[in-house]
Amino acid sequence: MSQKVSGFSKLSKIAKIDWLTEYHFNNVQEAKNTLETYWNTDADLQKLHDEFSENTLTNFYFPFGIAPNFTINNKVYTIPMAIEESSVVAAASKAAKFWDSRGGFKTKIIGTEKIGQVHFSFLGNIEKLTTFFNKVKPLLIESIEGIQTSMKKRGGGLIDVELRNKTADVPNYYQLHCTFETVDAMGANFINTCLEEFAATFKSLAFVEESFSSDEKDIEIIMSILSNYVPNCVVRAEVSCPVKDLPNTPELSSAAYAEKFVRAICIAETEPFRAVTHNKGIMNGIDAVVIATGNDFRAIEAGAHAYAAKDGQYSSLTHAYIENNILTYYIEIPLAVGTIGGLTSLHPLVKLALEMLGKPNAKELMEVMAVAGLAQNFGAVNSLITTGIQKGHMKMHLLNILNQHNANEDEKNTIVKHFEKNTITHSEVIKQLELLRD
Ligand code: MEV
Repeated sequence: MSQKVSGFSKLSKIAKIDWLTEYHFNNVQEAKNTLETYWNTDADLQKLHDEFSENTLTNFYFPFGIAPNFTINNKVYTIPMAIEESSVVAAASKAAKFWDSRGGFKTKIIGTEKIGQVHFSFLGNIEKLTTFFNKVKPLLIESIEGIQTSMKKRGGGLIDVELRNKTADVPNYYQLHCTFETVDAMGANFINTCLEEFAATFKSLAFVEESFSSDEKDIEIIMSILSNYVPNCVVRAEVSCPVKDLPNTPELSSAAYAEKFVRAICIAETEPFRAVTHNKGIMNGIDAVVIATGNDFRAIEAGAHAYAAKDGQYSSLTHAYIENNILTYYIEIPLAVGTIGGLTSLHPLVKLALEMLGKPNAKELMEVMAVAGLAQNFGAVNSLITTGIQKGHMKMHLLNILNQHNANEDEKNTIVKHFEKNTITHSEVIKQLELLRD
């Protein structure tokens, strides 16, 4: 039975493991061994990982793979992907190759603006608040000059701060709605530091504002925080080719393929149940690159799904149409990512991933990620409208099943060969393994 503990975070790593294993496992030694197996033999590297987060006991591995042959704006990329789900890297690589011979991927940055807000309560006259805001706005901007110095040197900084009246939604609720350019940094720390400074300055200036009543002087800061909804930090990635260059089989001509493809995307645009799965597939590709490059996949996920619902109904992040016998297929997605700061210069594999990409700036990384998402979606939709998803999926899953059942190399080779010509199901794999072992 699980136990409560106090002062856990202050214990040494060994003492933490002792406590955990003593109270949670029947086989204490086995649990300790499992945790220790994943320690890095390089003590400094292990210490680096331990210090990324609190109460770290061991490491949790993700497969780190690559998808080569991506031509993006006529430049060739090898894309790093950290993901555990079978088929994702294989599908990305296949899509890269397919579009490589059809002109490759073209991308465009639509915007790079980030957002942060100071949420506050003000009990009083709106006109007086507006006049006060306009008067103190230069002082607010001045208050963050020190914080902005190095960001400004890199070409970024505050874009604007505006007062927003939200009292129609919540009584007495207002915002300082702030926009920022953070260049190659994701910018969360920079933005939050600026916002907290704005909040403190705004509150103290209100306190001594002569035109305010005592209630009006007492502005209550509710919170100051960046937004992960970044509808103006958006990238577009696109592919296109003549319909006649699309897959052409006896079952499905290239013209029929194009129509079916566009219809599948159209279903995702209009049907939320499909859109969520469709976008999940897109995020398979994007998250894998986000993780490999040390970015925050929770922020990216939250922002992407909010963007997918920006018109009032959850919809597809990719779109497709046929015009003059050309299929055009694209993604538009907000991606607030960084190539400096955070884990980017700390985690050795993140450094390696960024070097593999040619040390991109944040805009270039946005482009690569959007391409990974589009490629992933192409792979999924292509399978769905032709063979079905399970064929490729089960092929990759076959090894997982065999590993689960501790198949040795000979068993794996024999069974993989068997399923080259037979349909893979979980029960059939087990049956073949048992037959072989008998
Ligand atoms: C599975 O991880 C992702 C798919 O379901 C995506 C899709 O349906 O488009 C295959």
